[in-house]
Amino acid sequence: MATVVALVSQKGGVGKSTLSRALAREAAAGGLRVKVADLDTQQGTSVDWHRARLNAGIEPVVSVEAFATAAQALAIADGYDLLIIDGPARTSQATLEIAKSANLVVQPTGASLDDLRPAVREFHALAKAGIPADRLAFALNRIGTDAEEAEARAYLEEAGYSVLAGGLFERPAYRQAQNEGRSITETRFPKLNERADVLLQSLIDRVV
Ligand SMILES: Nc1ncnc2c1ncn2[C@@H]1O[C@H](COP(=O)(O)OP(=O)(O)OP(=O)(O)O)[C@@H](O)[C@H]1O
Ligand SMILES: [Mg+2]
Repeated sequence: MATVVALVSQKGGVGKSTLSRALAREAAAGGLRVKVADLDTQQGTSVDWHRARLNAGIEPVVSVEAFATAAQALAIADGYDLLIIDGPARTSQATLEIAKSANLVVQPTGASLDDLRPAVREFHALAKAGIPADRLAFALNRIGTDAEEAEARAYLEEAGYSVLAGGLFERPAYRQAQNEGRSITETRFPKLNERADVLLQSLIDRVV
């Protein structure tokens, strides 16, 4: 049975696809059979990224496929060690359906209060609906400084949730890498790759 990691958020553009791709890349490099289920059939951003990666001949090859629902993705999960659900920015109800099927639900969030407040509300809603809090984790993205990261981390932990180690700075190089079919652990800048590695390793440690 595959381990299922779901990337969710109500807000768009917080980094769900970014982390899905990087998790897939790291898991594949570690020898796991991994599939990214791109549930945003309208945008298909991870499907596009996969095509760019194949065209550029980047190894390891990762597998990305579009699905309309989490249930459809789960139906093919048996052939994989890890199924990564790259969720669409949606209502709590759709997110709940995805969360129910996941061993770990990761919600990326920015560090401003405007980002943190709704992010916490979203996890509260999942917890209230019966998802155990130990299956929920935040990932900090688009942070500006270490101090900002520490403050956001404290806020989220105070709310009762775990936060993955590390946090991603807002950097054009992360965008650039993904434009080229690479993951945020495959940029041209070793320091940025290391930074992303810490976050991804902490995610992998939670599920393997
Ligand atoms: N730390 C970062 N620094 C710079 N750019 C980033 C960072 N994280 C994500 N991005 C960029 O921001 C955009 C949105 O990120 P991403 O697609 O991962 O978000 P998403 O949550 O999947 O969005 P959606 O809700 O639309 O599916 C992408 O162009 C991505 O390359
Ligand atoms: Mg996305």
